[in-house]
Amino acid sequence: MKKIILTGDRPTGNLHLGHYVGSLKNRVKLQNEGNYDEMYVFIADTQALTDNFNNPKKVRDSVIEVALDYLSIGLDPNKVTIFVQSMIRALPELTMYYMNLVTLARLERNPTVKSELKQKDFGSSIPVGFLNYPISQAADITAFNATIVPVGDDQLPMVEQTREIVRSFNNIYGKTLFEPKAVMPDNEVCRRLPGTDGKSKMSKSLGNCIYLKDDSNTVKKKVMSMYTDPNHIRVEDPGDTKNNTVFIYLEALSNEEHFKKYLPEYKNLDELKAHYEKGGLGDVLVKRFLYEVIEDILSPIREKRKYYEDNIDLVYNILKEGSRKANRHADETLKRVKKAMLIDYFE
Ligand code: TRP
Repeated sequence: MKKIILTGDRPTGNLHLGHYVGSLKNRVKLQNEGNYDEMYVFIADTQALTDNFNNPKKVRDSVIEVALDYLSIGLDPNKVTIFVQSMIRALPELTMYYMNLVTLARLERNPTVKSELKQKDFGSSIPVGFLNYPISQAADITAFNATIVPVGDDQLPMVEQTREIVRSFNNIYGKTLFEPKAVMPDNEVCRRLPGTDGKSKMSKSLGNCIYLKDDSNTVKKKVMSMYTDPNHIRVEDPGDTKNNTVFIYLEALSNEEHFKKYLPEYKNLDELKAHYEKGGLGDVLVKRFLYEVIEDILSPIREKRKYYEDNIDLVYNILKEGSRKANRHADETLKRVKKAMLIDYFE
């Protein structure tokens, strides 16, 4: 069996540090390790439209922004096929066939959909397209015969739903599709990075993000006003590092190199934590260090971004070429699916 890696993001704004630690960083690592047959990363504009259908401009603008984010973090179009979901003609057709295999109740039980429904307050007016997006996501994954799907923890229910669809399809029509496996970052804190306000998730709609494209001053302001331990009032007070967003970020982002470079008084995060917990270590020093760490990660990303912003035609060409390649693969899968379903009349 071929090893095919596939993942994507909804274009509803720029990507942020939560995406970076939850998935982007891992993708670049996978890309460079080269241990795969094919790798696809795509911009899920069709899915973004399921809850932004009345804001097409936002989705369109975000497609290019996400492409810039991808290229600036180091995704390499020579190794990875980068494409736009709506350009792939087989996907809506596959979705249509898979819809027969899923019940309404099953969609409503999907935990991610459930919490999104609550957040969006659709009431009894849930758009069919929105409820259907896990099925369309199964089409994304299976169209490319993906076996590995690198994602954050909120996407596990989608991959699980895809596996069910694959099993059900193969049962009825014969072995045609492959069951994908989700892979998540080893470091647990990376799976769901909290927002700068300490809320459970960094999310655009909550306004608590540090974006990959934020400039240095913006990052500084955001870090310096971050939520820490509310009981750590005086420097001498012992502090909590567990529910402390600044320490959670350090856990997700910092390494011993950063300590050597920016805070050589401490060898590693454990030492810094121990001092904070004992008391005598102020928030400002820890925040300054976090700022340096984030800058260390973001400055090369910003530089690359600038290059692609100045060569925007290149970015469009990468997407166009990627979509052309992706169509070839997806068309082939659709052909096999139709054959299995006995609707290949003129072949
Ligand atoms: N649901 C993902 C997100 O919210 C985007 C996505 C669409 C995706 N299709 C996918 C991710 C297939 C992995 C595999 O960002």
